[in-house]
Amino acid sequence: MCAKSSKSTNDFAESVIENGEVLTIERMTEAHLPEVMPIEREVFAPGWSEETFRNDLRNPAALYLVLRLNGKLVAYAGMWLVLDEAHITNVAVKPEYRRRNFAKRLIHRLLTIARQRGCVKATLEVRISNTPAQKLYEKFGFRPVAIRPKYYDNTEDALIMWLEGLDTPEYAAVLQAIEQEFSKRKR
Ligand SMILES: CC(C)(COP(=O)(O)OP(=O)(O)OC[C@H]1O[C@@H](n2cnc3c(N)ncnc32)[C@H](O)[C@@H]1OP(=O)(O)O)[C@@H](O)C(=O)NCCC(=O)NCCS
Repeated sequence: MCAKSSKSTNDFAESVIENGEVLTIERMTEAHLPEVMPIEREVFAPGWSEETFRNDLRNPAALYLVLRLNGKLVAYAGMWLVLDEAHITNVAVKPEYRRRNFAKRLIHRLLTIARQRGCVKATLEVRISNTPAQKLYEKFGFRPVAIRPKYYDNTEDALIMWLEGLDTPEYAAVLQAIEQEFSKRKR
């Protein structure tokens, strides 16, 4: 785990009202899985099994968040916190709720927590063909550094991306600038 002390389970819950809609981000627990699994299957076909999620939710190094829109769970994302690194493991937004900054909000929250926990860098793997996700990560300063051949289903390459300087005041300013975009609706 990253150096600084961790928070208890419910400390991540936060709601905002924007344009008359209630957005809530809270920590994922096993109780969320009946709402998470249909999205996982729809988005990744089939994606992680429920057992994989359960195991990860019991992993003290793992931290997953869900986003609700007016009470409905529409997106989630997670990471592992290992030593001074955050490893983003997944992010998924229900197709009909995309391009509304929901992934951006979740990644923003994860990286903010990672900073608070003393992480100095972050990494992830993404399909080489997944331009939307790569653009999302680039917004947060992730840069491609290597390719892991045939990482997905032994066919598609993974792009490995890294973000350095998570702990710096300059990066705090990056997060602040991204936060400004949240209240601007894109459609
Ligand atoms: C990738 C994904 C999580 C983005 O979710 P989203 O809520 O639509 O993204 P946001 O609205 O927060 O957009 C954030 C940024 O991502 C990029 N982005 C998102 N969708 C994009 C698209 N279709 N094309 C290009 N860029 C895109 C943009 O840079 C965008 O910022 P901008 O609107 O200021 O330009 C979503 O498309 C998804 O669930 N995809 C399937 C699952 C997946 O690929 N997960 C990542 C696995 S590593």
